[in-house]
Amino acid sequence: MFEFPFPGVAMGCDYNPEQWSPDVWREDIALMREAGLGFVTLGVFSWALVEPEPGRFDFGWFDEVLGLLHEGGIAVDMATATAAPPPWLTTAHPEILPVDADGRTLWPGSRQSWCPSSPVFREHALRLVAEMARRYGSHPAVRLWHVSNELGCHNGRCWCDVSAAAFREWLAKRYGDVDALNTAWGTTFWSQHYTSFDQVLPPRITPAFKNPTQQLDFARFSSDALLDYHRAERDVLRGICPDVPVTTNFMVSSHQTEQDYFRWAPDQDVVSQDHYLDARLPRPRAEQAFTDDLTRGVAGGKPWLLMESATSAVNWQPVNVAKRPGELLLDSLRHVARGADAVGFFQWRASAAGAEKFHSALVPHAGRDSERFREVVALGSALRAVGEVAGSPVRADVAVLFDWEAMWACDLDSHPSAELRYTDAANRWHRALAGLGVTADVVHPESDLSGYRLVVVPTLYLCSDAAAAGLRAFVEAGGHALVTYFSGIVDPDDRIRLGGYPGAFRDLLGVRVEEFAPLLPGETVTLDDGSRADLWAEHATAPDAEVLARFVDGPRPGDPALTRRAAGAGAAWYVGTRLDEAATAALADRVAREACATRLDVPAPGVELVRRGRYLFVLNPTDEPVAVRTEGVDLLADARPGAASGGSVTVAARSAAVVREEE
Ligand code: GAL
Repeated sequence: MFEFPFPGVAMGCDYNPEQWSPDVWREDIALMREAGLGFVTLGVFSWALVEPEPGRFDFGWFDEVLGLLHEGGIAVDMATATAAPPPWLTTAHPEILPVDADGRTLWPGSRQSWCPSSPVFREHALRLVAEMARRYGSHPAVRLWHVSNELGCHNGRCWCDVSAAAFREWLAKRYGDVDALNTAWGTTFWSQHYTSFDQVLPPRITPAFKNPTQQLDFARFSSDALLDYHRAERDVLRGICPDVPVTTNFMVSSHQTEQDYFRWAPDQDVVSQDHYLDARLPRPRAEQAFTDDLTRGVAGGKPWLLMESATSAVNWQPVNVAKRPGELLLDSLRHVARGADAVGFFQWRASAAGAEKFHSALVPHAGRDSERFREVVALGSALRAVGEVAGSPVRADVAVLFDWEAMWACDLDSHPSAELRYTDAANRWHRALAGLGVTADVVHPESDLSGYRLVVVPTLYLCSDAAAAGLRAFVEAGGHALVTYFSGIVDPDDRIRLGGYPGAFRDLLGVRVEEFAPLLPGETVTLDDGSRADLWAEHATAPDAEVLARFVDGPRPGDPALTRRAAGAGAAWYVGTRLDEAATAALADRVAREACATRLDVPAPGVELVRRGRYLFVLNPTDEPVAVRTEGVDLLADARPGAASGGSVTVAARSAAVVREEE
C-alpha cells in the first residue's frame, strides 16, 4: 500500500523540456514556483532523445532537468518514456507497426505506432524501462512512475498477424476447447463453425456483419493485451525500485471505449486519469462530472489523481473552445469535489512546433504576461487553500451502474437502433440526479450495492447472472432500482436471454417485453402522465407490476411505458422509453424521494453541490451570484460565511466556495 504520491491537493502538469533550450528550463522552474506547482510528469515522449541509437542512452539532459526540479522543490512523476517508439526502431522493425481492421498499416510520423502484442516492441521498451528505473528509481525528486502514456489512446486495437496469434491464444485460455467458443459465438449461424483455434481471426473487414461475440471478445482481448503490457513495464519497475508507486494515466470518458478500467484499476498503486472537455457533446461539464464519479468508482472510492486536463482549449476537436474567465477554477474544483487529490494538465509550456502547438498550456504562447498564466497562479493558490480536503471520501447513497463490456456489446452493429448509444443513457440519468443535488457513485454492476438506497441501471444491455442476482438482493433488502430500456437483454456471451425481454430483470421488474419498436430520428411519443420521449418504444405487458404510465401514441399506444413492482422490502422501477430531459428529471426526483436518497439543496439550475467528507463544494458556473445555506469556513474566501451572513455563503458568478462545515 502506497500513500498518495503528492501532499495536499497538488497542481501539476506534463513537462517537455526537450522542446526548449536549457536557458528556458531555468525560467520554467522560476515560473513553476510562482504558480505553486507541486509536480511535473517528465519524459513521456522522450524515447528518441534518451536512446538515440539502440542500446546507447543519453541521460545528461534528463539528469540536469531532474536536478533543477528537485532544487526547485517540484516532485516528479517519471514517465518510462516508451509511449512513442523512435524512428530507428520502426525503421529496423516495421513489424511492430499496428494494422487496422481494413489491413492498413498505421505508419510512424505521429505517436504510439506500435502493436500492443508485439514481442519486438516489448523487448526494446522494457530495456529502456529498466535503464530508466536504474537511473532514476532512487532520485529524490521521483515520487511516482508513469507507465507509457494513455495506453491505447491510438493503438487500442490492432488487427495484424501478431495480434491475431495473440487473440487465438487468449481465446484458447478463455474457452479451453474450440467447441466452447462455437457455442459462445453462435457459430451455427452463417456457417462459421470452427474446428480449430487456428482458423479464428480478429474481426477484420468482412462482406457483411461480423460475428458479434467475436467482436466483443476482440474488445476484451485488446483491453487485456494492453493491460498485460502495462504489467510487464510495472514488473520491471517493481523489480528495480519497489519503493516508488506505479501508475498509468487512464482515459475514462464517455467516448473512450477501448479499455475496461475496472479490470485495470487493481494493478495501479494510484488510479490516475486524464480528462478533456469535449465541445462535441451536448453537456460537456455534465459529462465531466459523470466521468469523475466513474473514475472514483474505478478507484474503488479512493482518492485519484487527475494527471491531465487542459487550462483552456485543446487542439483535436473540430472547434477548440477556450475556457472563459473563471472556468479553469470551476473545472478543476469539479474534479476535486468528486474525488481527485491532485489536478494535472497537459502541458507546462505551449509548444512552438508540432501537432499540438495550438493546445493550451500553463504558460501560453503569449508568455507569463497573460490572463491564462495569472489564472494558473490563482488556481495554484486555490488548490493550496483546499489542501486539507485531500483524503476525504465522497459518500453517496445512490449508484449508477456502468460497464465497459456492456458498452462494447450494446454499441455493436446490427441492433434494433443505431441511434441508441450506451453512454447516452448513463450520462442522462447521472445528469438528472446531479441537477437534483444527488451525488451518485458510478460503479460496476457486480459491485456490493448494500450501502445504497437507489441504484439506476441505464441500458445495461449485457449483464451477468451475478449482477442480476446482486440487483435483486439489493431490492429485496429494501433498495430501489430503476432499470431503463434495452437492459438485461443478453448474457456475457452476447446471447439473448430468451422468454421475453428484459431477460435478466424480467422477474424482478414484473415486466415482459415481446418486441422492440424503436423510433426514427425526430419521432417522439407521449405518455399518459404527460411525459414526452423519443428513440425507443416497445410492445410490453406488465404481468406482475403496477403500470404508472402508458404510451398514448407511437407504435404501441396503450402499452406500459413506466412500471413499478414492490419486491421484498424495496421496489423495482422500469422505464421502456427515452424520456426527455424534463421527464427524466421528474422521474429521477420521484424515485429519489421514494428511496429517501440524500440530496443537497440546489439554489439555482446549473449550480453544482457536492459534499466530500466534511467539505461542501459549491460550484457556480452561472452568470448570477447564488447563496447556499451552510455553516462553516469557506476555504477559498478564508471567511466565516455562517457568521457573516446568517448561515449562508454567497458565491459570485462563475466562482466557487469550498466550505469546511461545522461538525
Ligand atoms: C492526451 C495526451 C497528451 C496530449 C493531450 C492533448 O491524450 O496524453 O500527450 O496529447 O492528450 O489533449
